[in-house]
Amino acid sequence: MKTQPVTVDGSVTHALHEAHQRFANNHHGKNASYIPYLASVPANLFGISIMFCDGTHAEVGDTDYAFAIESISKVFTLAHVLDDIGPQSLRSKIGCDPTGEPFNSVVALELHKGRPLNPFVNAGAMATVSLLKAENATRRWAQIESTYQAFAGRDLTVNEEVYASEASTNQHNRGIAWLLQSYGYLYADPMEVCDVYTRQCSVAITCQDLVTMGATLANGGVNPVTNTRVVTAKTIAPILAEMTLNGLYDTTGDWYYKVGLPGKSGVGGGILAVVPGVCAIAAFAPPLDVAGNSVRGQLAAEHLSRTLNLSLLH
Ligand code: DON
Repeated sequence: MKTQPVTVDGSVTHALHEAHQRFANNHHGKNASYIPYLASVPANLFGISIMFCDGTHAEVGDTDYAFAIESISKVFTLAHVLDDIGPQSLRSKIGCDPTGEPFNSVVALELHKGRPLNPFVNAGAMATVSLLKAENATRRWAQIESTYQAFAGRDLTVNEEVYASEASTNQHNRGIAWLLQSYGYLYADPMEVCDVYTRQCSVAITCQDLVTMGATLANGGVNPVTNTRVVTAKTIAPILAEMTLNGLYDTTGDWYYKVGLPGKSGVGGGILAVVPGVCAIAAFAPPLDVAGNSVRGQLAAEHLSRTLNLSLLH
């Protein structure tokens, strides 16, 4: 059986460059266009990073380009809330089941009497934001910001242009927030929650930030670069369960067949895969498939998982 690397070595850098070379000219997919800013991001950008639990990392391509974290943010708000309320409470208030519907589906909510089913569809992500213990928007935001920064190991900022673009076009999410409230699955003011959720999606990160955030999950909640504990070790398994079942929305099963790892995508073109106890892979390429997942990002993760023997199913 092929061995699995535990640090950056020649096999890792070779696989990384091979993935970049192989898929850089793949032009399938389209930038997200329902958020006007995202449509304007250069479609040819492509970066891939890997970081091991010992803190060693390697990258290729556009790994220092700052892009919008979008739905990948849902993982890190969940981490904070899970740490606070525990997995039992999270499962009863939100859940850990696929909806089988697109990430912003209202139909899925109606079908389940308002229960969002998981924290990675927009409804579940807003319910998660509403579970942060905060008496106003400023305090709610402060918890999100400090959590993301601890995961990334550096100060992060909101891309105000992305935020303005999303805030002026998020009527659908506002509708979902009101619907959640009407069914009793939102635990704070709907418009405050929707706005904080929109802000968290607008945080600017690079592939290098994302891989550090993922490596912190892989490393049991301790950031391998700063050596700081960000979340308790017992919080990691429920996060990875959610990523395994719901990370790529209605195509999570296809991803799991191919990559065999917990993952999470965002419509900004970022994608994250976590190999528990070993490493994280982050990729960024804006064009998306119909479910909203980066096309080249998925191909890169699949290539690395296969060539470095990282799948949990092997
Ligand atoms: O709420 C939205 O629609 C976006 N801010 C985030 C959606 C997203 O990233 C879904 N991902 N694949």
